[in-house]
Amino acid sequence: MKVIVDSRQNIAEAAAQGYVSFIQNKPNAVLGLATGSTPEDLYAELIKLCNQGEVTFKDVTTFNLDEYCGLAPDHPQSYRYFMQDKLFDHIDINPRNTFVPDGFRTAEEDLVAYDRAIAEHGGIDLQLLGIGGNGHIAFNEPGTSFQSITHMVELTPETRQANSRFFNSIDEVPTHAICMGMRTIMNTQNIILMAIGKNKAEAIRNTVYGDIDPKCPASVLQLHPNVTIFVDHEAGSLL
Ligand code: PGA
Repeated sequence: MKVIVDSRQNIAEAAAQGYVSFIQNKPNAVLGLATGSTPEDLYAELIKLCNQGEVTFKDVTTFNLDEYCGLAPDHPQSYRYFMQDKLFDHIDINPRNTFVPDGFRTAEEDLVAYDRAIAEHGGIDLQLLGIGGNGHIAFNEPGTSFQSITHMVELTPETRQANSRFFNSIDEVPTHAICMGMRTIMNTQNIILMAIGKNKAEAIRNTVYGDIDPKCPASVLQLHPNVTIFVDHEAGSLL
């Protein structure tokens, strides 16, 4: 694992430069993308760099980590909406090449189809991850099997509480989500994990130095050969 600790703005810029180099080397890269507050600065940088002609996404394909069950793509809190709003609508990506799980298709065959689509595109070259204060990655909460593939999860009260900041009330936060599994994530070629703020510090310490244990899902990343962790000074304060 490579760990980079710097200011919030500097890690966004450094990660964005990493993406530019990566896509320059592989213009048809398959990117795994994440939602949440953490990647917003990175996405803003990528929009800027794309508009400046430093990078093109015209041959890039993307697969998002997760989606709430029961929110339509045009619901302002759906992750499809987030991706359109924060990235896709502002870069030159082909909309047909952007995949987000469908929060209304929860049958086993639909979940398996997401992993199959990733495989048919040759697998994910570079996966972006945030992390929860409890060490979750995507909605893979503590206790999730390291062998899981794309699956439906029941959100924990803590995660619903944390995400209620985007909704009018906690009652509006969906109870379930579809989420790439731990095995799906571990099968990616390269991983960038980003974390900002002191409420992530313990999870980052456990990810880097803790036991490899489903109690901290992100700890499994110690077994992945190509992980770069970008944290601000607060999230890195316990390292
Ligand atoms: P955040 O979410 O980027 O909004 O902090 C990350 C996560 O919970 O995985």
